[in-house]
Amino acid sequence: MTSSRASHKKTVPQKRRRPQELRRARLLAHIGAGVAVIPTAAEKVRNRDTSYPYRFDSDFWYLTAFPEPDAVLVLVDGRSILFCREKNAEREVWEGFRYGPEAAKEVFGFDAAFPLSALEAQLPPLLADRPTLWHSLGQDAANDARIVRALNAVRGMARVGKRPPALIHDLRQTLDAMRLIKDDAELTLMRQAADIAAAGHLRAMRACRLGGFEYELEAELSYEFRRRGATGHAYAPIVAGGGNACVLHYADNDKRLPDAGLVLIDAGCEVQGYAADISRTFPVKGRFSAAQKDCYEIVLAAQTAAVAAIHSGAEFNAPHEAAVRVLTEGMVALRLLSGAVDGLIESGAYQRFYMHRTGHWLGLDVHDAGDYKQGEAWMSLAPGMTLTVEPGLYIRPAPDVPKHLHNIGIRIEDDVVVTEQGCRMYTHAPRTVAEIEAAMQSV
Ligand code: GLY
Ligand code: MN
Ligand code: MN
Repeated sequence: MTSSRASHKKTVPQKRRRPQELRRARLLAHIGAGVAVIPTAAEKVRNRDTSYPYRFDSDFWYLTAFPEPDAVLVLVDGRSILFCREKNAEREVWEGFRYGPEAAKEVFGFDAAFPLSALEAQLPPLLADRPTLWHSLGQDAANDARIVRALNAVRGMARVGKRPPALIHDLRQTLDAMRLIKDDAELTLMRQAADIAAAGHLRAMRACRLGGFEYELEAELSYEFRRRGATGHAYAPIVAGGGNACVLHYADNDKRLPDAGLVLIDAGCEVQGYAADISRTFPVKGRFSAAQKDCYEIVLAAQTAAVAAIHSGAEFNAPHEAAVRVLTEGMVALRLLSGAVDGLIESGAYQRFYMHRTGHWLGLDVHDAGDYKQGEAWMSLAPGMTLTVEPGLYIRPAPDVPKHLHNIGIRIEDDVVVTEQGCRMYTHAPRTVAEIEAAMQSV
């Protein structure tokens, strides 16, 4: 709102602060008299003079929403200072728009902004006489070296009474804890990513045809993600036909789909840096066989049990334990294992067919920031935490495995946000046998 309009009112409304400004204010309050230095990611060469598509650093993005490489945020004395590339008419002809410090300050709400070239000279005085430096050591080698140079420069100022920070704190612990609880702006973006990712999965299901290839389904996902405005994939997509689904990080996506088999797709898009992470498994021909359906229903029941175990105050591991129990019961029913369920869980025998965990934090990184344990204790779930729920069943051929189950690999993965009462699943792609078959018939 403009000040002239505001002046008609008795109380002047506060300027609405961007979520990133609020996050910076929280971090500034946390570091007190200290100073924090947070660089974004560097551009990376792919081969010769071709770069990987640029992706900012998640922590930097969380605090700034500033999209350019070659930028560093410094937090000190209650102020946010950005160092970034200068305007450069010639480079902008080749590489596109750059904000430059002046516009960056205005658009992103920094207290000050300077050219990156000024950082080397400005950093030592910014560090001098601060009790604590907050820095993510080891995250970025160039930044580590810059920090060391600045600390040494301050040490060189000893004769004029300047001292470097005596303490260096790892900033990640603080930022990880902040990022673990999503604010409303983040949840909105995560829902957008989830909606687009779900549309991509639906498109891939509908496009699936006998004789098709894994990469054709990958192309459908990519098309839908980009068509709807997502940046692209949040991680390398898995499109795995038949037994390829039993390779957990299958990435080739180049084989012909087996007519009578299943296809497992694990794919999610990124929106404004936020990831969705969805897995769906469906029959190539659009109808589950009896054996495929039996296995699928077990994984779905495991997911339902896991979701039911998620609520504020529950341990992070509760959904995993719930899923493992249902999956292990299912393995016994399918004659993959024999014996008492408790014993099979205790001994880890179930891990032959379910070897990964049931979920992880989700956010700016697909395996997002945040601790899972504090000491020996699992983290307690709290409202605003976002996580995946992704049980699976992976049956590799072996002489002791019933033949009709060979090469069945299933994962069902959805994303949830923890609420006071329980959790809300916000990924909506066909999930039950009936929903999947209906979606595939309705082409
Ligand atoms: N897509 C990565 C995962 O499911 O953890
Ligand atoms: Mn996942
Ligand atoms: Mn996944």
